[in-house]
Amino acid sequence: MSLPRIAIVIGSTREGRFADKPAQWIKKIAEERNDASYEIVDLRDFPLPFFEEATSPAHAAPKNETARRWAAHINEFDGYIFVAAEYNHSMTGVLKNALDYAYKEFNRKPATFIAYGGVGGARAVEQLRQIAVELQLAPIRHAVHIGMIEFVGMLRDGKSFDDFPYLADSAKAMLSELAWWTDALKNAREAA
Ligand SMILES: Cc1cc2nc3c(=O)[nH]c(=O)nc-3n(C[C@H](O)[C@H](O)[C@H](O)COP(=O)(O)O)c2cc1C
Repeated sequence: MSLPRIAIVIGSTREGRFADKPAQWIKKIAEERNDASYEIVDLRDFPLPFFEEATSPAHAAPKNETARRWAAHINEFDGYIFVAAEYNHSMTGVLKNALDYAYKEFNRKPATFIAYGGVGGARAVEQLRQIAVELQLAPIRHAVHIGMIEFVGMLRDGKSFDDFPYLADSAKAMLSELAWWTDALKNAREAA
């Protein structure tokens, strides 16, 4: 069996985004493992228009060239870690839009989240889990939630992830679960 590939999808594209910090941090921790390869997928590299296709990607491939490139790239992965900012108690619009532009590429693959903000971005993550189910992703229980104290500490007070070592514990537990589900579902997809 080839080594599984996990995408770390950066779900914010705004100038000066915080999202790069958790994305690079989780990649570094993940690379200490040898059970998968972990690659950043940056939505800035896929400047999608607001969804405007005639048909859902569940039924027909998008016509838009960037959307086709996005879907093809997403299809290369066996699992996903979504780096999730919380905008107005939900996910970013740019991430929701990107999720709307693919379908079968996500089917029967695990997904998890690293979120930040009030309540650790949990409100965005819970909504993302609902969307994931409709995309036939398999959202797992474990996620990383960076709460307000840690988030503001890093944003404004010069702190780093090293100042909050329990976040790495949470990341390691999440990555172990993700690896289990990635293997299980990859094997099952290949056997089907
Ligand atoms: C439109 C908008 C809405 C926001 N709403 C929330 C929110 O509901 N909860 C929260 O904790 N932070 C909220 N924030 C603050 C973000 O957590 C903060 O800006 C964070 O840096 C966003 O992630 P990013 O920098 O990776 O885009 C909001 C920010 C923006 C721009």
